[in-house]
Amino acid sequence: MNTQPKVLVSRKIPQAGVDLLAQHFRLDVNTEDKALPPAELAARLADCDGLVCLLLDKISDELLGAAPNLRVVSNVAVGYDNFDLAALNKHRVMGTNTPGVLTDTTADFAFTLLVAAARRVVEADRYVREGKFKEWGVELFLGQDIHHATLGILGMGRIGLGMARRARGFEMRVIYHDEYRAKPEVEKEYGLEYMSQEDVIKQCDFLSLHVPLLPSTRHLLSTPQFAMMKRTAVVVNTSRGPVIDEAALAVALKKGVIAAAGLDVFEFEPKVHPDLMGLSNVIIVPHIASASVATRTRMSTMAAENCIAALQGQTPPNLVNTDVVRK
Ligand code: DGY
Repeated sequence: MNTQPKVLVSRKIPQAGVDLLAQHFRLDVNTEDKALPPAELAARLADCDGLVCLLLDKISDELLGAAPNLRVVSNVAVGYDNFDLAALNKHRVMGTNTPGVLTDTTADFAFTLLVAAARRVVEADRYVREGKFKEWGVELFLGQDIHHATLGILGMGRIGLGMARRARGFEMRVIYHDEYRAKPEVEKEYGLEYMSQEDVIKQCDFLSLHVPLLPSTRHLLSTPQFAMMKRTAVVVNTSRGPVIDEAALAVALKKGVIAAAGLDVFEFEPKVHPDLMGLSNVIIVPHIASASVATRTRMSTMAAENCIAALQGQTPPNLVNTDVVRK
């Protein structure tokens, strides 16, 4: 009888992570690029010691209750709002994530959305493809300047700071708010100005969101916040969809309360608010901010390493519920 621990990989992930896991464990791999329905996830997890999963897998009390041998749930993502942390602690299961490796790739993409929304790149591309480009026009696709503008950042964690670093190349002023103020030397090095959330929202030309999804950050931007913003402002969201009240955003974009938005994430993902679909001043992409070949491969191997460490009796490097290992 094979006594190796058994690990379920809930969905197709870059092969490097699967190869690493295969050196240590018996594997059940869902090779389809599709999330398992909750009942199938629970059934396949029933005799597993570890789970390597994605954001779409809801790690609930009920699921954990159905997997008595489970010792680790390893997310292939930095965000872990799919984890019920209290339930993980209750069932004494370790939860892990993949921080750090996707910082620059995600910040690159947030800045890409900022530039593309400000300079109307997607709209202009569509215009040419539709055969509408008949002659050059002095007022054709006028957008917002990025250089020397003010970038507001809500959430100055790793990715927020990555965004601030990129802004320096465009000689932007960077203002920010976070529950925890950055160290004075970090503020100095990156030229960051700390202020209240409301002041950031009021003063910025571009607003980029880098907060985790928590009860306190749900609908951080809604009708009152859009009303405070400059009419020329551009909002970028690569954090989590519910941080923005999508219905209120659609109204703000439609009425010209703000100029544009670039969205990688959605309140009811994968659904996008139908009113946003028809608007030309919003760029909508399918949650791909960390989707470079190198980064997604590294996320896959990092999730495997977390799982291996946990099942070898060590504290995994990226444990999120540290209470679980305390006596
Ligand atoms: C994450 O890692 O949390 C992203 O949203 C997906 O890369």
